[in-house]
Amino acid sequence: MKTTVTSILKQKSAGIKIIMLTAYDYSTAKLMDEAGVEILLVGDSLGMTMLGYPNTLSVTMEDMIRHSSAVARGAENALVLTDLPFMSYQTSVYDAVTNSGRLVKEGLANAVKLEGGRTFCPHIKAIVEAQIPVCAHLGLTPQSINALGGYKIQGRDEACGKKLIEDALAVQEAGAFALVLECVPSDLASLVTSHLSIPTIGIGAGAGTDGQVLVYQDIFGIYGNKSPKFAKVFADAGLVIRNGLRDYIEETKSGAFPDEEHSFKIDPDIMEALRDFVKR
Ligand code: KIV
Repeated sequence: MKTTVTSILKQKSAGIKIIMLTAYDYSTAKLMDEAGVEILLVGDSLGMTMLGYPNTLSVTMEDMIRHSSAVARGAENALVLTDLPFMSYQTSVYDAVTNSGRLVKEGLANAVKLEGGRTFCPHIKAIVEAQIPVCAHLGLTPQSINALGGYKIQGRDEACGKKLIEDALAVQEAGAFALVLECVPSDLASLVTSHLSIPTIGIGAGAGTDGQVLVYQDIFGIYGNKSPKFAKVFADAGLVIRNGLRDYIEETKSGAFPDEEHSFKIDPDIMEALRDFVKR
């Protein structure tokens, strides 16, 4: 069954956890969709995981559109949620609506995500009025890395905790259909979740949110040794890939690959004719 903004709202009411995972390409999107992941987040984390940048700040609209449309082509049932990259919405409400429209029209996204609270409520409202569902993102907001001074847990002191609660209520009021909470103490994330009617999706925010999201490379151990504390490796695909690469190199160097099974045959009479032909 296709996941929609209304179906995930129903999941919150029924207490059924929402499953979100980042996806950046067609073939992994297809695997995730078939496995039952409900929301495929084309996160601007692709700047690091796919493009090798040190952070998300260099990611462009063109990067997001290319990866988003690839993911959408592999997603039959999952909702495709695509990040508005840095400086595609901060500049004006007009830019926010125009670029959200591009993510839907060219990137085939079902919904868009942006980082920030009260400041971006006019942007959220305008995008929603343009009939594009918006997911908000609070707590650690990686596009603010320079302003935050690093990747740190957010909302640990009373003032920051109060601001997070106020921002969460504000984005809900502005029309966001869901809220990602990143790197927030578990108790605070649970408190926010219990005071919102829209679902919260946590990443490093404990078990009390309505759903979870993780970066694909982190749960499969394929992003070097840089997994954050909150990311559990569910299957060590990195090890499987490394072993496969070692075997490919060894067998190719020794001549064991390709063998008969992985080669094509030709009629011996045709081969003889071809040998005669090159002799002339
Ligand atoms: O870009 C991303 O992958 C994200 C998640 C970390 C929530 O925004």
